[in-house]
Amino acid sequence: MENDPRLTAAAARPEDQETDLTLRPKHFHEYIGQTTVTDNLKIYIEAARMRREPLDHVLFYGPPGLGKTTLAGIIANELGVDLRITSGPAIERAGDLAAILTNLSDHDVLFIDEIHRLNRSIEEVLYSAMEDYCLDIVIGKGPSARSIRLDLARFTLIGATTRAGSLSAPLRDRFGVICKFEMYTPDELGRIIQRSANILGIPIDGKSLTDLAHRSRGTPRVANRLLRRVRDFSQVLGSGVIDQAITDQTLQALGIDHLGLEGLDRDILATIIHRFNGGPVGIDTIAAAIGEERVTIEDVYEPYLIQSGLLHRTSKGRMVSDLAYRHLGLSSPENVQLTID
Ligand SMILES: Nc1ncnc2c1ncn2[C@@H]1O[C@H](COP(=O)(O)OP(=O)(O)O)[C@@H](O)[C@H]1O
Ligand SMILES: [Mg+2]
Repeated sequence: MENDPRLTAAAARPEDQETDLTLRPKHFHEYIGQTTVTDNLKIYIEAARMRREPLDHVLFYGPPGLGKTTLAGIIANELGVDLRITSGPAIERAGDLAAILTNLSDHDVLFIDEIHRLNRSIEEVLYSAMEDYCLDIVIGKGPSARSIRLDLARFTLIGATTRAGSLSAPLRDRFGVICKFEMYTPDELGRIIQRSANILGIPIDGKSLTDLAHRSRGTPRVANRLLRRVRDFSQVLGSGVIDQAITDQTLQALGIDHLGLEGLDRDILATIIHRFNGGPVGIDTIAAAIGEERVTIEDVYEPYLIQSGLLHRTSKGRMVSDLAYRHLGLSSPENVQLTID
């Protein structure tokens, strides 16, 4: 997914990095929306600071691009401590994790992205680290092996995952604070785009702002990416100002429709309609039919299709809604009418 050519895929791409550094909020007052999460966290941070204790371990979950990594950075900033960032797949051996943990200082924040992808044996090392701030390691092999206990700094673990359901219960239970990230409203996305446009120094008109906000799939990362694309179009083809004509032209060139759907979203809906009579159909069958990985559909595409009421998840599989038929310009199948006369 790292090199995903699709514009609206919410996963981070290398080209995001440069603007990420400039656009990524560093303090709470710059972080727009997600207030249920931030209001609570501000209290916990303040309380931990007053008691001179580390902040409780925090778990963030929700679709990609909603600001989990950003918020972890803000928390470390507000606590005035160092932030160490790693990810589940990057920690290959228990020794890697031990090295990271033993290098932390008191109250530091360790951020583990994609924590659901941690290897189970490594996950077990985390249990005692999270609970008792210590590490039990075995030295040597066979009869001469002995276990020693290392004390760790009193740190805070922030775990992030796109799927809270894939986390093992023992790991999930060790987080004192669990925060669910919601998709952003068009109004919040408009404020995020305005803020980014100000930082990048590009004028943008109100209508373009609303249009982009409505096509950002509830996701700040997508919003910033769309803004960068219209900036490209406006600098090359326009006057450097983002206006209606440039915005329309960019969205059209990118194949993004008025709901913010791009080609693959429409493919998913069309496949369910044309090949499976609108569903219900299993996710693996859809994945095979369109040649995309199941996790990508589940994590990246489905959340927004469900959020916009185009797709439903039922116990028998995925089903498209009437809205999906209308969105694709198709008439929905006749509803069976039961008439009693
Ligand atoms: N609440 C927010 N306010 C402003 N910008 C945001 C917000 N959340 C995310 N962003 C922007 O979106 C980008 C992606 O956010 P990120 O924290 O990397 O998402 P995640 O870790 O959930 O995938 C960030 O670089 C940041 O610029
Ligand atoms: Mg992230």
